[in-house]
Amino acid sequence: MSIAIAIRKVQRNLNDYGIGETLRKVVASLAGKVYLERTYRIYRRDLRTEQPAGEAPPGIELRVIAADDEQAVRDIETMEEWLQGAVKDRLSKGLCVAAFDGERVAGFNVIAFEEITIPLLNMTRRLRPGQAWSEQITVAKEYRKSGLATALRHRIFTELKQRGYRSLYGGTLLTNIASLKSANKVGFRFLADVRYRKVLHQEYRTYRRVSHVAP
Ligand SMILES: CC(C)(COP(=O)(O)OP(=O)(O)OC[C@H]1O[C@@H](n2cnc3c(N)ncnc32)[C@H](O)[C@@H]1OP(=O)(O)O)[C@@H](O)C(=O)NCCC(=O)NCCS
Repeated sequence: MSIAIAIRKVQRNLNDYGIGETLRKVVASLAGKVYLERTYRIYRRDLRTEQPAGEAPPGIELRVIAADDEQAVRDIETMEEWLQGAVKDRLSKGLCVAAFDGERVAGFNVIAFEEITIPLLNMTRRLRPGQAWSEQITVAKEYRKSGLATALRHRIFTELKQRGYRSLYGGTLLTNIASLKSANKVGFRFLADVRYRKVLHQEYRTYRRVSHVAP
């Protein structure tokens, strides 16, 4: 990771989680060169069920964006530094619905098909036909808790269903309560927890089925 991206990551964490959690993450990241442990929860939404209409909050417009939507791509890469330089390629192979406040991207959901990457587990997987993977959903801080993620998800469900997809998978860290609750609210069912450990250069992943329990 370049220094510039590392600085932006710290800034985003300060913005998202505050100083205490950011310091904890920085220390964990330094210690993580030696030992790293995290638990990642995987969930699935059945797209064959009735889909609620994606009502955006007032003043916000939802639309599917393409790889040549330069300004939106720049906004998304600014919001999530780990996607820096990678959004165009993802949009050319996947799907993205963005929420616009005028010209500005207030939130987005990027979906991948076929081959997916899960950076937090350091792994890639091939999906089966009819399956899609939610790579990232982000709402800019000042737009949170007003139903925007819910609206983005509902719009994505409709778009995927129209394209013939049957299931949307996604995942997040077990510590990301906002994300888990938001997924739960729109009908994702929790499937499994993957415990990822890295000791120096050796990686371990253990899988545990979870029964659906809201966080
Ligand atoms: C997770 C995230 C996308 C939610 O966006 P949002 O627009 O605030 O979500 P919504 O307003 O649609 O809220 C939906 C539900 O999520 C839950 N929720 C949202 N933010 C929450 C928070 N900070 N704490 C607890 N629950 C929260 C609530 O259950 C809420 O439903 P309710 O308002 O009826 O109680 C947003 O917090 C975010 O961008 N976080 C940083 C990026 C991230 O972690 N993405 C997920 C991993 S890919």
